[in-house]
Amino acid sequence: MAVYHRKEVLQKEISALKAAGKTIGLVPTMGALHQGHLSLVEEATRENDTVVVSIFVNPTQFDNKDDLKKYPRSLEADTGILYAVNPDVLVFAPDVEEIYDSAVTSDHFDFDGLEFRMEGKFREGHFDGVGTIVKRLFEIIRPDNAYFGEKDYQQLQIIKTLVGKYDIPVSVHGCPVKREANGLAMSSRNERLPAALRREAGFIFRTLQEARENFRTRTPESVKELVRERFGEHPEFRLEYVEIADAGTLETAAQKEKGKKYRAFVAVFAGEVRLIDNIALN
Ligand code: PAJ
Repeated sequence: MAVYHRKEVLQKEISALKAAGKTIGLVPTMGALHQGHLSLVEEATRENDTVVVSIFVNPTQFDNKDDLKKYPRSLEADTGILYAVNPDVLVFAPDVEEIYDSAVTSDHFDFDGLEFRMEGKFREGHFDGVGTIVKRLFEIIRPDNAYFGEKDYQQLQIIKTLVGKYDIPVSVHGCPVKREANGLAMSSRNERLPAALRREAGFIFRTLQEARENFRTRTPESVKELVRERFGEHPEFRLEYVEIADAGTLETAAQKEKGKKYRAFVAVFAGEVRLIDNIALN
């Protein structure tokens, strides 16, 4: 295992690997690694000769300064966990200057409207920040394959759009959501939940499952209403939004159309911690 802080040094290694015909899989992360991240690393390890995991808390995708400040940073623990999964992994852990020079600002992207929905609406500038960092990582590492979790389903769709728009020669893989035993989607932010809330937070996924069961017989709007009602019964979780949308375009589903795939999405405040989750409905 090797840890790279400088992009030039990593790029030299990657050029040598590419010249030797090796395939490269990239797993971009912000660290504080958990089983959700590791499932991506495992898939990348199965499908590539070399795996690069980037660990970089990207300042431009945080719309909330406090969230950025409180974001957990644990490079030493992260490299230990990665070593156990793949001892040959290359870790790219740049500092902010290495990625942004002196101007810590986002580029602006047109993601065909995906950026105005859900997370884009509630976290201003978030997807410009994500687009900026992921495009730069693709340019630095030039991976054959890149792995993203369906936990951040909208992000996954945005990355697919980014790659299409800029003709980036990488194949983007979506990986299923990993959950804690009670159903709570794994997230670095879960560590910040008080123990009682973390235990109770299985309620979020149970409600999404209930939405899926009801989606067969009810309209999208009435399923969303059901979700709002459930959250009304659990005031310790504040629902920021519930959406039922086309799984490709993420446009709100006004009604169900034959042959289309739909997903339900929620963003929830548990105390001061913001959680997101989603589920395939059909
Ligand atoms: P981060 O939140 O660290 O997540 C890194 C990757 O792990 C993302 O693709 C995310 O969807 C995936 N992931 C997180 N929790 C997961 C879970 N429970 N199950 C499956 N996959 C999960 O997402 C980011 O970082 C950043 O936005 C990034 C893409 C690195 C750009 O800065």
